[in-house]
Parts: sequence; structure tokens; C-alpha cells
Amino acid sequence: MSRLTGQTAIVTGASSGIGRGIALQMGKEGAQVVVNFNSNEKSAQEVVDEIRAGGGTAVAVKADVSKEPEVIGMFEQTFREFGTVDILINNSGMQKDAAFLEMSLADWQRVIDVNLTGQFLCAREAAKEFIRRGVVPERSVAAGKIICISSVHEVIPWAGHVNYAASKGGIMLMMKSIAQELAPHKVRVNSIAPGAIKTPINREAWEDKASEKKLLELIPYGRVGVPEDVAKAAVWLASDDSDYVHGTTLFVDGGMTLYPGFEDNG
Ligand code: BGC
Repeated sequence: MSRLTGQTAIVTGASSGIGRGIALQMGKEGAQVVVNFNSNEKSAQEVVDEIRAGGGTAVAVKADVSKEPEVIGMFEQTFREFGTVDILINNSGMQKDAAFLEMSLADWQRVIDVNLTGQFLCAREAAKEFIRRGVVPERSVAAGKIICISSVHEVIPWAGHVNYAASKGGIMLMMKSIAQELAPHKVRVNSIAPGAIKTPINREAWEDKASEKKLLELIPYGRVGVPEDVAKAAVWLASDDSDYVHGTTLFVDGGMTLYPGFEDNG
């Protein structure tokens, strides 16, 4: 249970949902965790407290990932606290849903800014540090690991969520292009594409029995996911156990991308 001992992980958007789950799991695995938040300081501090209560090390750092100076500031604060960074979990994300004809430019832009540009800004700062520092064999055989939290909607179109689906589709080729470019530096870059995971972002899709039953029609494995499902995959992808996995998307979706509607149709 200490696959990340001595490594420092920045987890963006770690005050709730999937980010929170990943931060907690990385803390258990021995990583020093930067629990990034934008607005919910209290929840971020609770994540920090929980990691510390389990004997781990963590600190909460505020930054809006869509703002370049704030991202740079978050990395500087990380270096002051822990000296360097080994793992970036590019997780911050949001939905601002609307029918296409009603979608405002502001809602399009904000989702692209946070979900896609935010991942670009954080990945760039992480990569600079990974390449500057290089491999530290006592900690990992790679110079650094970047994990982009995408979505099944990097491949599944989603009416009423055009901004969100476009941001996730963008993450797919951003991740692969960065992976191609950084491989010679021993920087590993991958994505995780979660399906429906019980978090605040999709609460209305699972909170009552009728909604959950409808949602389960999309999930062959027969249960809605929980943050730990994604967190365990993230630990593996960040650890040397997955050292030859590079430039790929790991779907953690209970089979949602198997398009179960085709089971008896088509
Ligand atoms: C979205 C959720 C949705 C899930 C499956 C996620 O990326 O954020 O709202 O339930 O995809 O459609």
C-alpha cells in the first residue's frame, strides 16, 4: 500500500468528487499531496485533515486552473513545500449544460477554459519541472507522470452538453500529443475516462431510485461508479506498475462505452 512513497502529487479540483477520492488514495499510498481547490477551502482542508489523520502528508493550495499566474503560483507553492513534483492529476472540471441553441458564449468559454485550457496550463508547468529535474530512481523510473481526467464523453457525443463533450474530446488529443512529445524525456502521459461516478457533478442522475434505474440502462456492469473506482486506477497509472503504459486512455466506466443500446438492436 505504499506505491507512491516519497513522491509529490498535485491533484487539481481535489476538494470534492473524483479529485477528492484520488487525493485520499494517493495520500494512503505514501504520496505528499497538494490538494488544489478554487472556491471551497473548507472542503479542501477536510481532505487535507483526512490524509494527515491517516498518517499522510498534504497541503491545500488555492488556484483557478484556468488562470496562468495562479497555476504558476500553485507550482511555486508546491516547490516551496515539497521541493519538486512527481505526479500531476489534471482533474478540475465542470459542466454548464444547455441546449445548443441556448448555450451562451460565456458558458461555452468557461467550460473550455477550466476543463481544457486548465489541463494544458498545469501539464505545461509539471512537464517543465519533470524535465528540469529528470529521473530520481529512488522514487520512480519515470521523470514524471501526468494523468488527465477525461470522460467517456471524449468519445461519446452528448446532446445538451456540447461545451463539456468538446472539452473532453480536446483532452484526448492534447494528452496524446503531449505524450508523443514528452516520451523521450521519460515523462509518462495518460488519461482516465470515467463513466457515471457518484459525485456532485451528476447528482441528479443518481440521487433518486428512478433516475438511477434510468442511468443503469447505460451501464452493463450494473452499478454506478464511486470515486474509489477512479482513484485506484489513478494510483496504478501513477505508479511504476504501469511504466510501459503511455499515451492511452483507461476507461473506468462499467462498460458504458460498450454502447449497451446495441445489445438487442442495430
Ligand atoms: C459527466 C457526468 C455523467 C458521466 C456519464 C461524466 O463525464 O460529468 O455528469 O454522468 O460523464 O455520462
